[in-house]
Amino acid sequence: MANSALKLSAIDAYYGDSHVLQQVSFELGEGRLLGLLGRNGAGKSTCMNVSVGLLPPRAGAVEVFGATVTRLPPEMIARRGVALVPQGRRVFKSLSVRENLAVAARTEHVGRRHAPWTMLTVFAMFPRLAERRAQLAGHLSGGEQQMLAIGRALMSNPRVLLMDEPSEGLAPQIVAEVMATIRKLKESGLSIVLVEQSPKLAFDIADDIVILNSGRVAVVSTAAALKADGVDLRQHLGVF
Ligand SMILES: Nc1ncnc2c1ncn2[C@@H]1O[C@H](COP(=O)(O)OP(=O)(O)O)[C@@H](O)[C@H]1O
Ligand SMILES: [Mg+2]
Repeated sequence: MANSALKLSAIDAYYGDSHVLQQVSFELGEGRLLGLLGRNGAGKSTCMNVSVGLLPPRAGAVEVFGATVTRLPPEMIARRGVALVPQGRRVFKSLSVRENLAVAARTEHVGRRHAPWTMLTVFAMFPRLAERRAQLAGHLSGGEQQMLAIGRALMSNPRVLLMDEPSEGLAPQIVAEVMATIRKLKESGLSIVLVEQSPKLAFDIADDIVILNSGRVAVVSTAAALKADGVDLRQHLGVF
């Protein structure tokens, strides 16, 4: 496998007394795209929260490019080059598009030689955001808010991009645009985790697949092998 960009090892995570992730381990290879699948409530977002330091795990380790970041505060993990596009987008609705991007800009990095993402390059990737740069984020469509959420994450010049259900609630044509954007980001060399409800979308775009079931890793495979085997995933994902 390629060098590891992000590695979770035997993670146990809790919300209060509720044991939500049980011995979860998976690895994102550098430059690869990992599709993280699972039913609603399986623990996908919790894995993202653990990876960016929002939920410190009770046991296990998180590594970013080989460096242990377990229980570091989110700001320190961000400096190591991990950015999250959160589920539900969570843009600052009362700030303009430009302000949403500006607040996320980051120039200091650990282990980075150059920082390709600026407001200019984000606007070049998302021309609609450029047109709407002065508008309040709350006035954008769902698809535009998703692009802004992605642009905001890129402004931190990440090496690892985590995207939590970016297609959720979007019309099919907009989903296709978001997927095309994710492909471009992968081609640019970013290592990506894409959390998805739709196995079809994930299988189309991912190199590797991890399926969570009730807080445990149920399947780890390459997307190609899963497709070729025609594995019956209904037990893990429900009927689709
Ligand atoms: N802030 C929270 N407090 C308590 N329980 C939570 C919280 N967030 C999620 N959970 C629970 O943790 C489990 C995993 O949730 P989550 O990681 O959001 O799943 P997914 O993203 O796969 O839908 C679910 O049972 C959910 O109800
Ligand atoms: Mg979720």
